[in-house]
Amino acid sequence: MTYRDVYDSWKRDPESFWMAAAEGIDWVQPPSRALFDDRAPLYDWYRDAQVNACWNAVDRHVEAGHGDRLAIIHDSPVTHATKGITYRELRDRVASLAGALRAKGVEKGDRVIIYMPMIPEAVEAMLACARLGAIHSVVFGGFAAHELAVRIDDCTPRAIIAASCGIEPGRIVHYKPLLDAALAEARHKPDFCVIFQREQEVAHLTEGRDVAWHSFQYGVEPADCVPVAGDHPAYVLYTSGTTGQPKGVVRATAGHLVALNWTMRHIYDTGAGDVFWAASDVGWVVGHSYICYGPLIAGATTVIYEGKPVGTPDAGAFWRVIQNHKVRVLFTAPTALRAIKREDPEGRLIGDYNLRSLKALFLAGERADPDTILWAQRLLGVPVIDHWWQTETGWAIAANPLGIEALPVKIGSPSMPMPGYDVQVLDEGGHPVPPGTLGAIAIRLPLPPGTLPTLWQAEARFRKAYLDHFPGWYETGDAGYLDEDGYVYIMARTDDVINVAGHRLSTGAMEEVLASHPDVAECAVIGVADALKGQLPLGFLCLNRGSNRPHAEVVREAVGLVRDRIGPVAAFKLACVVDRLPKTRSGKILRATMVKIADGEDFRPPATIDDPAILDEIAVALKGLGFPVAHD
Ligand code: COA
Ligand code: AMP
Repeated sequence: MTYRDVYDSWKRDPESFWMAAAEGIDWVQPPSRALFDDRAPLYDWYRDAQVNACWNAVDRHVEAGHGDRLAIIHDSPVTHATKGITYRELRDRVASLAGALRAKGVEKGDRVIIYMPMIPEAVEAMLACARLGAIHSVVFGGFAAHELAVRIDDCTPRAIIAASCGIEPGRIVHYKPLLDAALAEARHKPDFCVIFQREQEVAHLTEGRDVAWHSFQYGVEPADCVPVAGDHPAYVLYTSGTTGQPKGVVRATAGHLVALNWTMRHIYDTGAGDVFWAASDVGWVVGHSYICYGPLIAGATTVIYEGKPVGTPDAGAFWRVIQNHKVRVLFTAPTALRAIKREDPEGRLIGDYNLRSLKALFLAGERADPDTILWAQRLLGVPVIDHWWQTETGWAIAANPLGIEALPVKIGSPSMPMPGYDVQVLDEGGHPVPPGTLGAIAIRLPLPPGTLPTLWQAEARFRKAYLDHFPGWYETGDAGYLDEDGYVYIMARTDDVINVAGHRLSTGAMEEVLASHPDVAECAVIGVADALKGQLPLGFLCLNRGSNRPHAEVVREAVGLVRDRIGPVAAFKLACVVDRLPKTRSGKILRATMVKIADGEDFRPPATIDDPAILDEIAVALKGLGFPVAHD
């Protein structure tokens, strides 16, 4: 079968396609059909089925006689430790944790926040929730207490599971004080918190609220898998929108299982017994789909890597992991490769390792620049595959499906739409445009199984953010074009979301924080090009009239404020004070024009600009920050 055969077979008969894909899943009660469109333009998949995600990811492999196979390899250069967990051990650990959660009242439908570093316990916590039908919401460790508090108030968890600390190169991340601060700020109070004490830092437990990971499991009855309906939310994962209020992307259980199972074989060409490594974090969607669920559903071994591409200890770290654990497929963000390439441009360290097990390298999360792809292709000698997806979709919208057929690679394109996705480029009026024409990238509804059915307790926001602009379509928020062969090209975001080191961040959220500084009257944050991280946020601050504070001092405080409120992951380190911001006559800040100046691109000020002279002031300020701006 070629890619074309498979894609066309989906297009001809989506219902049969997704019912056939559903055969890869163990059902308590099989679905009578795939799509439920009675609530269109909202859709459900496999709604009348009964299923359990943990059973499919863990227990069924033990039942099938593969209990001794490794489910997880934890490779942690920051703690100098490596350990393996078999499927049987994983089942027992997860059943015990789930039993303890249940004993403290966690039930089907309850939310549980997980705030943990890259340790197996993070995945075990996710699976324990899935076992009970509880809805997990993992919060990335690089977010500050305030961001955690926002998520606590939005999803109102019955429990929070956290670790005492995380380990970043050169520093301990004190998770527990961050959790305490978040709980002090949040209006909602969970019933209890489970704390996994790491030996690198043992946290103080708050009596009456906190329980220790091991002791609270003592003597409990292990929990069996609880069947849930196909449309039952498996998890809520928050992602950046245009404001400081993140969007709670909901993932429905059955579609998630079917879609991930399909992708493991058909996109990643990975099956039972293979070692799959997504070098991301459980706090991101890549971590949900391809550190936790995808590889485990497929019966593969997943690698949980607690380290960085460089500095733990060197730029050979990824190659060591591939060699030591016989990794078949590596999935990472282009930033990680750029970091390695910067330290080891000739790829000398690659030669120190035996990478024979590696069959492919997949990249996603941000635009993959041609230099990086070519560098990796040349030095690794395996297909380097760019693929495009979002937190919202949970799996690739466009990819090169290695398990079906290796399509000719076109550098700069994440290749072709996957079955389930009818990808079109639309003009402002919502009409598809011819190949080669830039526009908004949209997907014809319904989206396939595994994609978001809605936002957590925010259906109106879901409709407004994704469905209302182009009726009948899902608006991706990305702009780009299709070529004559149907290859997709992603060029930019159509909103104020930026992508820093593969992390999706909201400039609007940063502006909200900056505006809270007492000396700041007005501000704008833009994403400027960065050779390593793809983009970096840069803030322009206009101070209150009468403020005579030294500018450097205000900038320092502003940078500190973003780090304290959003977290180090915002990587907000660049800011300057300006007198005025460039605006249109109707008062809209010209962020895109400022980006062009900072990136040294040619630009023409929009006809609607209020005062073009302000652009010169911006250029001067950027020069002051060391930007080689073209505009004088
Ligand atoms: N917990 C706490 N802090 C974290 C964190 C975590 N899980 N992850 C990152 N941070 C901190 C970092 O320590 C850094 O803090 P600093 O400002 O004190 O140095 C800050 O957040 C910014 O992190 P990052 O943007 O990742 O930059 P970095 O300089 O630490 O590392 C790379 C640069 C390229 C090595 C790193 O960005 C990387 O590995 N990127 C891969 C991207 C990726 O996996 N994306 C996931 C989507 S697929
Ligand atoms: P996230 O939800 O954090 O996964 O971010 C999704 C966004 O990252 C997309 O909407 C794109 O803007 C960007 N993105 C992800 N993968 C790619 C890719 N392969 N090429 C270009 N942009 C990408």
